[in-house]
Amino acid sequence: MSEMFGKVKYLLLVFMVLVFTTDYSLAQEEGAAIFKANCATCHSPGARRGTGPGLQGFWDRIPGGDDAGKTKWYLNWVKNSATIVNSGKDPYINKLYKEYGSVMTPQPHLSDEELLAVKEYIITYEPPVDVADSGGKQNPFIPVKEKTDYTTMLWLVSLAIIFIILVSALGSIKNSLQKSIAVKDDKEFKEPLPFPKNLLNWFANHKLQTGLLIILVAFIAFMQLYYSLMSVGVYQGYKPEQPIKFSHAIHAGENGISCIYCHHSAEKSAHSGIPSVNVCMNCHKGIQKGTWTGTEEIAKIYEASGFNPETGKYDGEQKPIKWIRIHNLPDLAYFNHSQHVTVGEIECQTCHGPVEEMHELYQYSELTMGWCINCHRETEVAGLAASDDEGEVAKNPYYQKMFNELRAQHKDVEVFQVEDIGGLECSKCHY
Ligand code: HEC
Ligand code: HEC
Ligand code: HEC
Ligand code: HEC
Ligand code: HEC
Ligand code: HEC
Repeated sequence: MSEMFGKVKYLLLVFMVLVFTTDYSLAQEEGAAIFKANCATCHSPGARRGTGPGLQGFWDRIPGGDDAGKTKWYLNWVKNSATIVNSGKDPYINKLYKEYGSVMTPQPHLSDEELLAVKEYIITYEPPVDVADSGGKQNPFIPVKEKTDYTTMLWLVSLAIIFIILVSALGSIKNSLQKSIAVKDDKEFKEPLPFPKNLLNWFANHKLQTGLLIILVAFIAFMQLYYSLMSVGVYQGYKPEQPIKFSHAIHAGENGISCIYCHHSAEKSAHSGIPSVNVCMNCHKGIQKGTWTGTEEIAKIYEASGFNPETGKYDGEQKPIKWIRIHNLPDLAYFNHSQHVTVGEIECQTCHGPVEEMHELYQYSELTMGWCINCHRETEVAGLAASDDEGEVAKNPYYQKMFNELRAQHKDVEVFQVEDIGGLECSKCHY
């Protein structure tokens, strides 16, 4: 038993030495240096366009078919670019050349290994948060990954292993010392119990500590269970990945497109609706390339609408875009947009948050009954204050009549909350 442990000890030591001395990022660093020296004048490793295309995702789009084919194409291209451009025989390059109008300098002095390191660098490249060359902006479509720091954990685990090894080494030294003393004194030496039995003995002899330990473990398990149950059905913050990387920040924010342009039924009906692909095509027939995602995402709009950007004709099949629904009240509750947006004059952002800053839309509010009711208690009904001019109070004659009656009944009331017009009645929100 202890002999076996002795061997395991050395294996563990060797393993740890390996873990701490291997430098995994060597290839990537080498690739970065070669890229900066030979390619960076014309290419960004990210999406930004320069003299040549931004190389982000290039491996997926270059010809060659499988990985081996792509490797062959890539090495050949970088070493013989000028010959390839001038021959006009590679349709992929012909297209790029037409778009960039510049011949890439061939790089025959670089070895295959060096070029593969460059490829590795590009495909694993993550733009820093503050990229000066893209106007100081982070590509919104590449989420900033929170780097999990495993180093501390690795250290802790290693320390624990070292500790165990030390303890067991000391233990066996102590054992053999005791043994030799026993032999010398001619006394009987009792072999110590193997580890698991030892532990059980300890538990049996320390009932109070054992009890406390069990309670602690049970408590932690219970809290874990409790929190996982409590978060069931809480959709606040829900942010599914959509079929097209559509950004509200780019459309409603940077380009100032009004919410109603796309969600036009919000003012008139219960539902706001999601715009059909034809609405996208109003602009994207012309805008074929995005700053961040190039042609990749916009191509999906063309696919959905059956549009062929080469010919400018709708000659394909139409396939609706399958947007994933984010907000969804249970069937038992009724919510009406026009009542809030048009009659109540509430801004979209009051309920949906700073949509014009969201690259990926998420559910901002709780959407619980308590949320609806709190707002109905606190919010004044627009245009119903006694000081409001009667003529322009409500745009809807039904409300006008109701408002006039309410005012007649409550001459002393200055402002009315939604509560006062029946906003807390169960039947208003539940059929
Ligand atoms: C003098 C500018 C220049 C330099 C330097 C340069 N390139 Fe290019 N590269 C281009 C241009 C321009 C194109 C587009 C094709 C054309 O017009 O020649 C291109 C195209 C490419 C493509 C295809 C891009 C795509 O989107 O599919 C790859 C891959 C590529 N270059 C890799 C490299 C690598 C790797 C290096 C460095 C070892 C490098 N380039 C150095 C200008 C350059
Ligand atoms: C250019 C068209 C466009 C504009 C302008 C626009 N949206 Fe949208 N909106 C969409 C599309 C497409 C979706 C579905 C994809 C998604 O959820 O990101 C959507 C989804 C939403 C959703 C979530 C729907 C769900 O699934 O629950 C909300 C809320 C929303 N938009 C609010 C707004 C607000 C508020 C504004 C104005 C600040 C706005 N939108 C402007 C196109 C647009
Ligand atoms: C008073 C709060 C409130 C306001 C104001 C509001 N919304 Fe909503 N919105 C909701 C709720 C609640 C839902 C979920 C409705 C459901 O599931 O039936 C929703 C759902 C949506 C959806 C998903 C599709 C749908 O109709 O269910 C879109 C898109 C949307 N809102 C856009 C807008 C836009 C654009 C505005 C402003 C013009 C706006 N909302 C104003 C509360 C609000
Ligand atoms: C009123 C005009 C307009 C409408 C409608 C519109 N877009 Fe856009 N879209 C733009 C503009 C402007 C840009 C920015 C182009 C750029 O980056 O230079 C853009 C960019 C994009 C991009 C690329 C983002 C990037 O930077 O890479 C995608 C994807 C996109 N839109 C999807 C959609 C979808 C899906 C719809 C329909 C739901 C839509 N757009 C409707 C004007 C519009
Ligand atoms: C940001 C505040 C706000 C939130 C949140 C809100 N409401 Fe309202 N609601 C109003 C206002 C203001 C009115 C009054 C509109 C008017 O002038 O008739 C109203 C009116 C209504 C009415 C009509 C009441 C009546 O007596 O005519 C219903 C039904 C309603 N809301 C349902 C809901 C539901 C369901 C939710 C939650 C999903 C909700 N509201 C969330 C502000 C809010
Ligand atoms: C302003 C709108 C509004 C009013 C008024 C309202 N509710 Fe609700 N109620 C909701 C919404 C929205 C939900 C769904 C939200 C959720 O599941 O948390 C809901 C959910 C419920 C549920 C289901 C809870 C669950 O967990 O599934 C019950 C039961 C209910 N309401 C009863 C009532 C009763 C009884 C009244 C009258 C005293 C009432 N509601 C008044 C909006 C309202």
